[in-house]
Amino acid sequence: MIDEKCYDYKVTAAGRVNVIGEHVDYCGGKVFPAALSLCNTVYVRPNGTDKINLSWTTLPDRVSLDINELGSYKGLKYGNYQAGSALMWKNAGHKLVGCDMLQICKVPFGSGLSSSAAIEVSTISALATVAGEKFNPIEVALLAQRAERDFVGVNCGIMDQYASACGKRGHAILLDCKTLEREYVPFALGDYELVIINCNKPHSLVQSKYNERRAETEYALNALQKELDIGCLADLSVEDFYDYSRLLSGKVLDRARHVVEECERVSEAVKAMKKGDMLGLGRLLTASHKSLKDLYEVTGEELDTLASLAWKHPACVGSRMTGGGFGGCTISLVEKDGVVDFEKYVTEKYTEKIGYAPTANKSEIGDGITVTKIEK
Ligand code: GLA
Repeated sequence: MIDEKCYDYKVTAAGRVNVIGEHVDYCGGKVFPAALSLCNTVYVRPNGTDKINLSWTTLPDRVSLDINELGSYKGLKYGNYQAGSALMWKNAGHKLVGCDMLQICKVPFGSGLSSSAAIEVSTISALATVAGEKFNPIEVALLAQRAERDFVGVNCGIMDQYASACGKRGHAILLDCKTLEREYVPFALGDYELVIINCNKPHSLVQSKYNERRAETEYALNALQKELDIGCLADLSVEDFYDYSRLLSGKVLDRARHVVEECERVSEAVKAMKKGDMLGLGRLLTASHKSLKDLYEVTGEELDTLASLAWKHPACVGSRMTGGGFGGCTISLVEKDGVVDFEKYVTEKYTEKIGYAPTANKSEIGDGITVTKIEK
């Protein structure tokens, strides 16, 4: 039991699911994520020292971070995300005060649902709140992204931290990652439900593979810029891409093709959701997965098994991996009446083939950051 009254504020930031637009955020593309009610919660109170004392409900460890030594905590097993986030907030000119933080993460780790973004964004928001500062969620997202890049070492795009900070209950966010313009689109699926299933693959080499993909897209961009006046891969229409694809070859060509076609799928998917065309949306989800498997090569046996089982079930109209890939979750668009049978079927067949069970995650589409003052 947590004694809430020991703390001054409760701050939360969301995990996220990405409906479509995968591996395009760092290429200036549009993405279509939604914040989840699964979130990281931080209880915080000032402690009058120059230490940030961290504890977790799920870990026996206690970690104390010296506000003046934040750069020295990169190697920490627990607490490095918080240290990196605090450092980026401080380096951006904000005030840090010593505080005690109790953290509770309900976003499963390694699930592709952005537990790391939820931790970074909630930590920064809690630090700002306890120092008496009003904060801008977009700045928090950008600094959280910087923590992930410069401190944790994943050269990520802005999607996860943005969705974690700026999500809106009941809505997906159409986010242009080049301009940060956004549109909230009602997350309306009619008679369908978005079923999130974690393949539970143990994590390995995710960071280095992610950074490698990102470098490949940069290589593709440089090659195309020899003849084209574009600032990012997302500036390229599908037609232009085919006209100039002779400038690329091998894997780099495949990676760029995924990006350009996925950007097109995002626009189509948003139209489909607005029209209530669930069959159309489902087809786009499935096409996205196939491209992530064959062209971008970020799926793997476990995610491919989950997706292909989903495609076989009569209540499902489309399924794909969500997030960075190499493990984590799939999302499937499933008729409400068929969800129970769908989950049973996928769980049984997956376990038979892979040797361990997947997990279905239940979540609503929730808000980004929330701050509550605790009344004593
Ligand atoms: C991870 C990154 C995001 C994004 C996705 C893939 O979640 O943090 O920036 O690139 O992978 O779409």
